[in-house]
Amino acid sequence: MPSSKWRSLAVVCAVASAAASVLIATPAHADGTLRGHAVERGKFIGAAIATTPLANETAYRNIASTEFNQITAENAMKWESTEPNDNQYTFTGADQIVNFATQNNQQVHGHTLVWHSQTPGWVQGLNATNMRAAMNEHIATVVGRYANNATVVSWDVVNEVFDDNGNMRQSFWFNTLGQSYIADAFRAARAADPNARLCINDYNVEGINAKSTAMFNLVQSLRAQNVPVDCVGFQGHLAIQFGFPNDIQQNMQRFANLGVQVRVTELDVRMQTPRTAAKDTTQAQYYTNVINACNAVTACAGVTIWGFTDKYSWVPDTFSGEGFALIYDNNYAVKPAYTAVHNALDGGTPTNDTTPPTTPGTPTASAITSTGATL
Ligand code: G3I
Repeated sequence: MPSSKWRSLAVVCAVASAAASVLIATPAHADGTLRGHAVERGKFIGAAIATTPLANETAYRNIASTEFNQITAENAMKWESTEPNDNQYTFTGADQIVNFATQNNQQVHGHTLVWHSQTPGWVQGLNATNMRAAMNEHIATVVGRYANNATVVSWDVVNEVFDDNGNMRQSFWFNTLGQSYIADAFRAARAADPNARLCINDYNVEGINAKSTAMFNLVQSLRAQNVPVDCVGFQGHLAIQFGFPNDIQQNMQRFANLGVQVRVTELDVRMQTPRTAAKDTTQAQYYTNVINACNAVTACAGVTIWGFTDKYSWVPDTFSGEGFALIYDNNYAVKPAYTAVHNALDGGTPTNDTTPPTTPGTPTASAITSTGATL
């Protein structure tokens, strides 16, 4: 059944154009909004959105609505937010994000169902049988809530399953259930919403390296076993002091050749303080490079920036002495990185992603409950 979840991005074009008139700050040479140009490209341009400023700040809302045609909840759809206690669900923040997106004709990418972080302690302490049941039930409930909602089109089903060397992360998920939790999570998500695009998402997989190759091998293996993996997300948490992954386009393309959609899910480019004009220029080039890579890969659906204003970036809280990773400054003024994204999206030939999702339908569970590695 063709679903509205697969609708064309063209729908959002008109709203993007109309909304341009209320844009807060746009440099003189950057005509039009990011989303307007992204739609012309056949791509999305997105941002992670935090619920508190969304509720409290007009400037935040204006930029979030006018510049982006896709949004991801930065925290509101994570397990600790949606099911803090066993079978007690709270969708206040998640619904706030989804309703905002609906009002502004944006797509929502659900983030994230199964992760080792921001998952309550009650889950982490379960035995294998109960943990698998809790995972399946959580996925059924959270994905099921939005299954008939055309705004929510995709999910990060599993997040960061690899360690930095490309081995399976020794998380409580893996240690309790073995690798089979990954396949089961995808099957549960497919059962909950046959039309949602289902993604596996990780960091430090932008270039070709041991970790991205492990991801490649896993996705290939899962799909060979008819596990419904539709999409690979490259988070894109970059830092100018570490250099740019110059083979990002080549890496995206090898995944695309497996038949999956690809996307950049959490782009930001941090720098060591203090911020300088030279660092801004380097940062802007990194943003350009990522957008260009996505433009060049037909199966790349778009790029989501992990926030948009430095005011609310996660970076300074995590990396001491680093920051300024986003495209607007603390006062919502555009930075060179904004212009870089704008100009990389502007013009060019449309390259709509036409990657099909795996066949919708009711999948069978793996029924594996041991710690065996079989998928
Ligand atoms: O909600 C509490 C609040 O009640 C409390 O007063 C405050 C005090 O510190 O903490 C608040 O929780 C914080 C939460 O964000 C919501 O703001 C947590 O401390 C903080 O650790 C948490 O950080 C988030 C982080 O994931 C957690 O791992 C970041 O905002 C979020 O940007 C970040 O996002 C992740 C992606 O989900 C996955 N990929 C990596 C990316 C960056 O780490």
